[in-house]
Formats: sequence, C-alpha cells, structure tokens
Amino acid sequence: MIKRFPMPMPFGWFGVSYSDELAPAASRAIHYFGKEMVLFRTEGGKAVVLDAYCPHLGAHLGHGINAEHGEGGRIQGETIVCPFHAWRFDGEGVCAEVPYAKNMPPKVKDKQCLKSYPVQEKNGVIWVWYHPEESQAPLWDVEEHEEATSDEWSDFEKHEWIIKTHPQEMGENAADPAHFHYVHKVADFPVWESVQDGHKSHGIQRADMKTPKGVVKGEIHTNNAGPGQAWTRFYGIADTFLLAQITPIDQETTHVRFGFKQPKSEENMMKAGVNKAIIKDICKQLNEDKPIWENKIYRPLPVLCDGDGPIAKFRKWYKQFYADWDGAS
Ligand code: FES
Ligand SMILES: [Fe+2]
Repeated sequence: MIKRFPMPMPFGWFGVSYSDELAPAASRAIHYFGKEMVLFRTEGGKAVVLDAYCPHLGAHLGHGINAEHGEGGRIQGETIVCPFHAWRFDGEGVCAEVPYAKNMPPKVKDKQCLKSYPVQEKNGVIWVWYHPEESQAPLWDVEEHEEATSDEWSDFEKHEWIIKTHPQEMGENAADPAHFHYVHKVADFPVWESVQDGHKSHGIQRADMKTPKGVVKGEIHTNNAGPGQAWTRFYGIADTFLLAQITPIDQETTHVRFGFKQPKSEENMMKAGVNKAIIKDICKQLNEDKPIWENKIYRPLPVLCDGDGPIAKFRKWYKQFYADWDGAS
C-alpha cells in the first residue's frame, strides 16, 4: 500500500464530543490518535478521558453492559467501574477499589495505572490534549468563543465527516486560493491574507458566496489554535459562526465536526433562508474537497506557480505541532 503522508500525528487540543452528547454518569469508547480510550462524565459532571484497557485483565472500559447510560463501564460517583470484574478507577486513572480483594495489589494501590488525558470543556465541546510524549502538559489553553456560549446565538447545527486524510492536508486548503475557483466554482480567486502568531493563525478571505438571491460579496475570517481547533466568522449578508473540530482518528483518517451558529436576532430570523443557504454551501465545499483529499498524496517539495497561495508559509507554521518530524519527506 502507498503511504500517502509522511507526517506523524500532530499534538494539540482536539474535540472528542459535544458536551450535550455526554450525560452525567454516561461512558463510551472513543478511538482517536491511534489509541483506544474511554470517555465518561462523572456523577458530579466532570468529563474524563482515560486509556481504555483495564490493568487487571485488559477489558475495555468503554464496552460493557450499562443499560442505563451509554455503552461503557458504569459510573459510580467520580469513578468508572470496569465492566469485567468491577475494579474502579477515578478521573486520574488511580484504582479506587478492587471490590472482592482483601488486599489491594500493591501495583495499583494509590497509583495511577491508567493514563488520564488533560480535558477542557469549553464552547459546548469536550477537548482532549494529545501529545506523543505522554508527560507533556498542555502548551496552551482551548480558545473560548462568545458565539459558542452566548444566549444570543442559536444552538449548534451539527455536521460531521470521517475523511481519509491527514489533518494538515485539510488545513492547507485555506492557503490554496486557486482551488476555490476550480473545485468550489467560486467566481474569482479569493484574496487571502494571513497572520501567524505562535500556535495561532488568523486569515481573512474575500470571497463571493452563492445564495438564492444571487452572488453576495462575503468576507471570511478564519482562525486556528493548533491543528485541532478552528473557527470561522462569515460576514456578508448574514452572520455565521463555525466551530470546527479536526480530530485525527489515526494517521490517515480524520474526524471533522462542523458546528454552525447564527444570531437569534429577529433580523437574522428573517434571513433564515439565506442563513441556511450559507451553511449548505460551506458543507457542499467540504464535500467537494473530500474526494481530492481522500486520494491525493502529500508532495514535500511541490512545484508551485506565481498564482499559488502561501503553501510553504502554512507548512512552516504547521510543523511546530510535530514533536518528532522535521518536515522533510
Ligand atoms: S479486567 Fe477490568 S476489572 Fe478485570
Ligand atoms: Fe476547499
């Protein structure tokens, strides 16, 4: 099989669930970063992510019979109960109880025996910090957005895709103005400016948007904080906020969640048809990119022309999210 990408897994904060899709005392298996993990919410409301396999006999904490909540281990207070023999683990991955043992095995007594991943719950999303060096603490915080928490904005309209590509390849899209014309049939090549600042990047594109009322001059403000968190504000005829979660499942597969919000104001309600059209057009663009992404290879030294965008600049910025790759092929 052809290895399409030399890039390893990038590090950063990655969305693994919307908050409203994990009730208190629910648990389930999640599979990201090429790892098996269990996601649960304690009775107290805290979201926790642990490595999945029980140190006892290796059961997956995210798969069992838990009729009441989800499909994983039962939640008891602030702990998860292994579905196999009921050993209990707290949010730090420390074994809290072996219910049928007279003495706790010294290997697990008061010790962390499962990796616990840093979690931040912000913007209605549960974010997990992934880094290939497990002891590396988070290097920045998840960005918070007023649009995602304010009552003046609608609930998320959710769309999601599983795409056979590496997240860097998707990010490169925004540094590639020419494809907007040929893939997305945007009338002009959008003008593109971007500023990079540490783990963040901010860009403004001026692009025409197709609506039922004809073509409208639009402005798109794109933002990234690391490889996993991206958000976009669309200005034009209607305000739209898009929170994107770009989460690698493995090195060649990416889970993309798009959550759209629009202001609830009356004026905006009147434009509801146009608003929907904008969301539809953005999702259509992703569907148009998908077959290209799923079949292309990564060219470490592409042949570029003077009409191409700042591809090299984008790649240089993205490279900082690899702990163990220098950007060469
Ligand atoms: S395998 Fe988890 S308690 Fe036995
Ligand atoms: Fe695209």
